[in-house]
Amino acid sequence: MNKILQGKIIKNQALTERVYLISLKIPFSIDAKPGQFFILRMNERHDPLLGRPFSIYDLEGDKLSFLYRVKGKGTKILSKLHIDEEIQLTGPFGRWYPFPKDDYVVIAGGIGIASVYYLMKKFPKKAYLFYGARDKKEIFFYDELKNIAKDICISTECGAVDYKGVVTEAFREKGINLNLPIYACGPMVMIKELKNLLRDKKEMHCFVAVEERMACGLGACLGCVIETTDGLKRVCTEGPVFNLNELKL
Ligand SMILES: Cc1cc2nc3c(=O)[nH]c(=O)nc-3n(C[C@H](O)[C@H](O)[C@H](O)COP(=O)(O)OP(=O)(O)OC[C@H]3O[C@@H](n4cnc5c(N)ncnc54)[C@H](O)[C@@H]3O)c2cc1C
Ligand code: FES
Repeated sequence: MNKILQGKIIKNQALTERVYLISLKIPFSIDAKPGQFFILRMNERHDPLLGRPFSIYDLEGDKLSFLYRVKGKGTKILSKLHIDEEIQLTGPFGRWYPFPKDDYVVIAGGIGIASVYYLMKKFPKKAYLFYGARDKKEIFFYDELKNIAKDICISTECGAVDYKGVVTEAFREKGINLNLPIYACGPMVMIKELKNLLRDKKEMHCFVAVEERMACGLGACLGCVIETTDGLKRVCTEGPVFNLNELKL
Protein backbone atom coordinates (compact mmCIF):
# COMPACT_ATOMS: atom_id res chain seq x y z
CA MET A 1 0.00 0.00 0.00
CA ASN A 2 1.56 3.32 -0.95
CA LYS A 3 1.56 6.31 1.37
CA ILE A 4 2.10 10.04 1.25
CA LEU A 5 5.01 10.78 3.55
CA GLN A 6 6.92 13.79 4.72
CA GLY A 7 10.65 13.14 4.64
CA LYS A 8 13.28 15.20 6.44
CA ILE A 9 16.55 15.47 4.54
CA ILE A 10 19.46 14.07 6.52
CA LYS A 11 21.89 14.03 3.62
CA ASN A 12 21.99 15.42 0.08
CA GLN A 13 25.52 14.79 -0.99
CA ALA A 14 27.08 15.54 -4.37
CA LEU A 15 29.05 12.48 -5.49
CA THR A 16 30.00 14.14 -8.77
CA GLU A 17 28.93 17.39 -10.38
CA ARG A 18 25.61 15.80 -11.44
CA VAL A 19 25.03 12.75 -9.25
CA TYR A 20 23.70 13.00 -5.71
CA LEU A 21 22.74 10.73 -2.86
CA ILE A 22 19.79 11.97 -0.85
CA SER A 23 18.73 10.34 2.42
CA LEU A 24 15.45 11.11 4.11
CA LYS A 25 14.18 10.35 7.57
CA ILE A 26 10.55 9.35 7.23
CA PRO A 27 7.99 9.33 10.09
CA PHE A 28 7.95 5.54 10.55
CA SER A 29 9.60 2.35 9.27
CA ILE A 30 8.16 1.05 6.04
CA ASP A 31 8.32 -2.13 4.07
CA ALA A 32 9.34 -1.67 0.45
CA LYS A 33 10.91 -4.08 -1.97
CA PRO A 34 13.93 -3.80 -4.28
CA GLY A 35 12.88 -2.44 -7.67
CA GLN A 36 10.04 -0.31 -6.30
CA PHE A 37 10.09 3.45 -6.51
CA PHE A 38 8.83 6.63 -4.87
CA ILE A 39 7.60 9.85 -6.39
CA LEU A 40 9.31 12.88 -4.86
CA ARG A 41 7.73 16.33 -4.94
CA MET A 42 10.47 18.90 -5.18
CA ASN A 43 8.74 21.83 -3.49
CA GLU A 44 5.46 23.32 -2.39
CA ARG A 45 5.21 25.84 -5.23
CA HIS A 46 4.02 23.10 -7.59
CA ASP A 47 6.67 24.01 -10.13
CA PRO A 48 7.36 21.54 -11.57
CA LEU A 49 3.77 20.44 -11.05
CA LEU A 50 4.50 16.74 -11.18
CA GLY A 51 6.66 14.78 -8.80
CA ARG A 52 9.55 12.75 -10.16
CA PRO A 53 10.05 8.99 -9.80
CA PHE A 54 13.18 7.52 -8.20
CA SER A 55 14.09 3.92 -7.42
CA ILE A 56 14.71 2.99 -3.84
CA TYR A 57 18.47 3.01 -3.55
CA ASP A 58 18.51 1.92 0.08
CA LEU A 59 16.07 1.51 2.95
CA GLU A 60 16.89 0.95 6.59
CA GLY A 61 13.77 1.25 8.75
CA ASP A 62 12.86 4.93 8.63
CA LYS A 63 15.85 6.00 6.52
CA LEU A 64 15.21 6.02 2.80
CA SER A 65 17.85 6.89 0.20
CA PHE A 66 17.82 7.71 -3.49
CA LEU A 67 20.73 8.04 -5.90
CA TYR A 68 19.93 10.51 -8.64
CA ARG A 69 21.40 12.23 -11.64
CA VAL A 70 20.56 15.87 -12.26
CA LYS A 71 18.73 15.98 -15.60
CA GLY A 72 16.33 18.93 -15.69
CA LYS A 73 14.25 21.24 -13.57
CA GLY A 74 13.03 18.77 -10.93
CA THR A 75 16.35 17.12 -10.17
CA LYS A 76 18.11 20.50 -10.19
CA ILE A 77 15.74 21.74 -7.47
CA LEU A 78 16.28 18.51 -5.57
CA SER A 79 20.03 18.94 -5.66
CA LYS A 80 19.73 22.39 -4.04
CA LEU A 81 17.76 21.21 -1.00
CA HIS A 82 19.50 21.29 2.37
CA ILE A 83 19.70 19.11 5.46
CA ASP A 84 16.59 19.48 7.70
CA GLU A 85 14.41 20.70 4.82
CA GLU A 86 11.31 18.59 4.23
CA ILE A 87 10.09 16.97 1.08
CA GLN A 88 6.87 15.14 0.25
CA LEU A 89 7.10 11.69 -1.23
CA THR A 90 4.60 9.01 -2.24
CA GLY A 91 5.17 5.31 -2.53
CA PRO A 92 6.32 2.65 -2.65
CA PHE A 93 5.04 2.07 -6.19
CA GLY A 94 5.36 -0.67 -8.73
CA ARG A 95 6.30 -4.29 -9.10
CA TRP A 96 9.51 -5.36 -7.48
CA TYR A 97 12.23 -7.72 -8.65
CA PRO A 98 11.24 -11.34 -8.01
CA PHE A 99 13.38 -12.48 -5.09
CA PRO A 100 16.42 -14.50 -6.20
CA LYS A 101 16.47 -18.01 -4.75
CA ASP A 102 20.19 -18.54 -5.20
CA ASP A 103 23.07 -16.94 -7.14
CA TYR A 104 22.09 -14.34 -9.71
CA VAL A 105 23.59 -11.87 -12.15
CA VAL A 106 23.13 -8.11 -11.90
CA ILE A 107 23.78 -5.81 -14.84
CA ALA A 108 23.76 -2.10 -14.09
CA GLY A 109 24.44 0.70 -16.52
CA GLY A 110 25.24 4.14 -15.11
CA ILE A 111 22.63 5.45 -12.69
CA GLY A 112 20.82 2.10 -13.13
CA ILE A 113 22.90 0.98 -10.13
CA ALA A 114 20.31 2.91 -8.07
CA SER A 115 17.69 0.28 -8.78
CA VAL A 116 19.77 -2.82 -7.92
CA TYR A 117 21.87 -1.84 -4.89
CA TYR A 118 19.03 -2.57 -2.46
CA LEU A 119 18.42 -5.94 -4.14
CA MET A 120 22.07 -6.93 -3.63
CA LYS A 121 21.97 -5.69 -0.06
CA LYS A 122 18.88 -7.80 0.70
CA PHE A 123 20.35 -10.86 -1.01
CA PRO A 124 24.06 -10.47 -0.31
CA LYS A 125 27.05 -12.48 -1.53
CA LYS A 126 25.02 -14.08 -4.30
CA ALA A 127 25.25 -11.54 -7.11
CA TYR A 128 27.73 -11.53 -9.98
CA LEU A 129 27.68 -7.81 -10.62
CA PHE A 130 28.48 -6.26 -14.01
CA TYR A 131 28.51 -2.52 -13.54
CA GLY A 132 29.21 -0.17 -16.41
CA ALA A 133 30.15 3.45 -15.89
CA ARG A 134 31.37 6.18 -18.20
CA ASP A 135 34.60 6.64 -16.29
CA LYS A 136 36.20 5.97 -12.92
CA LYS A 137 34.57 8.87 -11.11
CA GLU A 138 31.12 7.60 -12.14
CA ILE A 139 31.62 4.34 -10.24
CA PHE A 140 29.64 4.82 -7.05
CA PHE A 141 30.05 2.95 -3.75
CA TYR A 142 32.65 0.51 -5.07
CA ASP A 143 33.68 -0.73 -1.61
CA GLU A 144 30.10 -1.32 -0.48
CA LEU A 145 29.30 -3.09 -3.74
CA LYS A 146 32.36 -5.28 -3.37
CA ASN A 147 31.18 -6.24 0.10
CA ILE A 148 27.66 -7.22 -0.88
CA ALA A 149 28.33 -8.81 -4.29
CA LYS A 150 29.75 -12.29 -4.81
CA ASP A 151 31.87 -11.07 -7.68
CA ILE A 152 32.20 -7.72 -9.40
CA CYS A 153 33.26 -6.63 -12.87
CA ILE A 154 33.42 -2.92 -13.57
CA SER A 155 33.50 -1.75 -17.15
CA THR A 156 34.40 1.74 -18.29
CA GLU A 157 35.17 3.32 -21.64
CA CYS A 158 38.83 3.70 -20.66
CA GLY A 159 39.21 0.33 -18.95
CA ALA A 160 40.42 1.96 -15.72
CA VAL A 161 39.19 -0.89 -13.51
CA ASP A 162 38.34 -4.38 -14.81
CA TYR A 163 37.06 -4.18 -18.35
CA LYS A 164 37.42 -1.74 -21.25
CA GLY A 165 34.14 -1.42 -23.10
CA VAL A 166 30.44 -1.41 -22.44
CA VAL A 167 28.83 -3.46 -19.70
CA THR A 168 26.89 -5.74 -22.07
CA GLU A 169 30.18 -6.73 -23.74
CA ALA A 170 31.70 -7.52 -20.35
CA PHE A 171 28.67 -9.64 -19.55
CA ARG A 172 28.83 -11.39 -22.94
CA GLU A 173 32.47 -12.32 -22.38
CA LYS A 174 32.42 -13.19 -18.71
CA GLY A 175 28.85 -13.75 -17.56
CA ILE A 176 26.55 -15.20 -20.17
CA ASN A 177 27.63 -18.79 -19.51
CA LEU A 178 26.82 -18.51 -15.83
CA ASN A 179 23.23 -19.34 -16.83
CA LEU A 180 21.76 -17.58 -13.81
CA PRO A 181 18.73 -15.30 -13.51
CA ILE A 182 19.59 -11.75 -14.51
CA TYR A 183 18.46 -8.48 -12.91
CA ALA A 184 19.20 -5.41 -14.97
CA CYS A 185 18.69 -1.67 -14.99
CA GLY A 186 20.26 0.92 -17.24
CA PRO A 187 19.68 3.04 -20.31
CA MET A 188 17.38 1.73 -23.03
CA VAL A 189 20.33 1.10 -25.35
CA MET A 190 21.75 -1.30 -22.75
CA ILE A 191 18.42 -3.09 -22.35
CA LYS A 192 18.13 -3.44 -26.15
CA GLU A 193 21.63 -4.85 -26.41
CA LEU A 194 20.87 -7.28 -23.60
CA LYS A 195 17.80 -8.43 -25.47
CA ASN A 196 19.97 -9.08 -28.55
CA LEU A 197 22.50 -11.03 -26.51
CA LEU A 198 19.83 -13.21 -24.93
CA ARG A 199 17.83 -13.79 -28.12
CA ASP A 200 18.93 -17.44 -28.29
CA LYS A 201 18.84 -17.99 -24.54
CA LYS A 202 15.10 -18.14 -24.03
CA GLU A 203 15.50 -20.35 -20.96
CA MET A 204 17.32 -17.56 -19.09
CA HIS A 205 15.16 -15.33 -16.91
CA CYS A 206 15.99 -11.68 -17.20
CA PHE A 207 14.16 -9.03 -15.18
CA VAL A 208 14.65 -5.42 -16.16
CA ALA A 209 13.58 -2.20 -14.49
CA VAL A 210 12.44 0.34 -17.06
CA GLU A 211 12.74 4.04 -16.30
CA GLU A 212 10.14 5.65 -18.60
CA ARG A 213 8.97 9.22 -18.23
CA MET A 214 5.99 9.42 -15.90
CA ALA A 215 3.16 11.74 -14.98
CA CYS A 216 0.48 10.56 -12.52
CA GLY A 217 2.31 7.46 -11.27
CA LEU A 218 -1.08 5.90 -10.54
CA GLY A 219 -1.96 4.14 -13.77
CA ALA A 220 -4.48 6.79 -14.81
CA CYS A 221 -2.85 9.00 -17.46
CA LEU A 222 -1.18 6.37 -19.68
CA GLY A 223 1.80 8.70 -19.92
CA CYS A 224 4.27 5.90 -19.23
CA VAL A 225 3.15 3.06 -21.49
CA ILE A 226 5.58 0.74 -23.24
CA GLU A 227 4.97 -1.92 -25.85
CA THR A 228 5.00 -5.52 -24.70
CA THR A 229 4.07 -8.85 -26.27
CA ASP A 230 0.83 -8.52 -24.31
CA GLY A 231 -0.03 -5.03 -25.61
CA LEU A 232 0.73 -1.65 -24.08
CA LYS A 233 1.62 -1.70 -20.38
CA ARG A 234 1.98 1.09 -17.82
CA VAL A 235 5.46 1.27 -16.33
CA CYS A 236 4.15 2.85 -13.12
CA THR A 237 1.68 0.12 -12.18
CA GLU A 238 2.53 -2.89 -14.34
CA GLY A 239 6.28 -2.22 -14.08
CA PRO A 240 8.82 -0.85 -13.62
CA VAL A 241 10.17 -4.41 -13.47
CA PHE A 242 9.35 -6.50 -16.53
CA ASN A 243 10.47 -9.79 -17.92
CA LEU A 244 12.84 -8.90 -20.77
CA ASN A 245 11.08 -11.41 -23.07
CA GLU A 246 7.89 -9.38 -22.70
CA LEU A 247 9.36 -6.13 -23.94
CA LYS A 248 9.07 -5.17 -27.59
CA LEU A 249 12.23 -3.16 -28.17
C1 LIG B 1 10.49 4.01 -12.09
C2 LIG B 1 11.59 5.03 -12.30
C3 LIG B 1 12.68 5.02 -11.46
C4 LIG B 1 13.70 5.98 -11.65
N1 LIG B 1 14.75 5.94 -10.79
C5 LIG B 1 15.74 6.85 -10.94
C6 LIG B 1 16.85 6.85 -10.03
O1 LIG B 1 16.92 6.05 -9.09
N2 LIG B 1 17.82 7.79 -10.21
C7 LIG B 1 17.75 8.69 -11.26
O2 LIG B 1 18.66 9.52 -11.39
N3 LIG B 1 16.72 8.72 -12.11
C8 LIG B 1 15.71 7.82 -11.98
N4 LIG B 1 14.65 7.87 -12.84
C9 LIG B 1 14.61 8.93 -13.87
C10 LIG B 1 14.14 10.23 -13.20
O3 LIG B 1 12.81 10.08 -12.79
C11 LIG B 1 14.25 11.38 -14.21
O4 LIG B 1 15.60 11.61 -14.51
C12 LIG B 1 13.66 12.64 -13.60
O5 LIG B 1 12.25 12.50 -13.53
C13 LIG B 1 14.02 13.85 -14.43
O6 LIG B 1 13.33 14.94 -13.87
P1 LIG B 1 13.78 16.44 -14.16
O7 LIG B 1 12.67 17.33 -13.76
O8 LIG B 1 15.11 16.72 -13.57
O9 LIG B 1 13.99 16.43 -15.71
P2 LIG B 1 12.96 16.92 -16.82
O10 LIG B 1 13.03 18.41 -16.90
O11 LIG B 1 11.63 16.28 -16.61
O12 LIG B 1 13.66 16.27 -18.07
C14 LIG B 1 15.02 16.64 -18.41
C15 LIG B 1 15.55 15.69 -19.46
O13 LIG B 1 15.60 14.36 -18.92
C16 LIG B 1 14.87 13.48 -19.74
N5 LIG B 1 14.19 12.51 -18.89
C17 LIG B 1 13.19 12.76 -18.01
N6 LIG B 1 12.77 11.60 -17.44
C18 LIG B 1 13.53 10.63 -17.96
C19 LIG B 1 13.58 9.22 -17.78
N7 LIG B 1 12.75 8.59 -16.99
N8 LIG B 1 14.51 8.54 -18.49
C20 LIG B 1 15.35 9.16 -19.33
N9 LIG B 1 15.34 10.49 -19.54
C21 LIG B 1 14.45 11.21 -18.88
C22 LIG B 1 13.90 14.34 -20.50
O14 LIG B 1 13.52 13.76 -21.72
C23 LIG B 1 14.68 15.59 -20.70
O15 LIG B 1 15.53 15.49 -21.81
C24 LIG B 1 13.62 6.93 -12.69
C25 LIG B 1 12.51 6.94 -13.54
C26 LIG B 1 11.50 6.00 -13.34
C27 LIG B 1 10.30 6.02 -14.22
S1 FES C 1 2.40 7.73 -15.10
FE1 FES C 1 0.27 7.92 -15.43
S2 FES C 1 -0.26 5.91 -16.08
FE2 FES C 1 1.81 5.72 -15.55
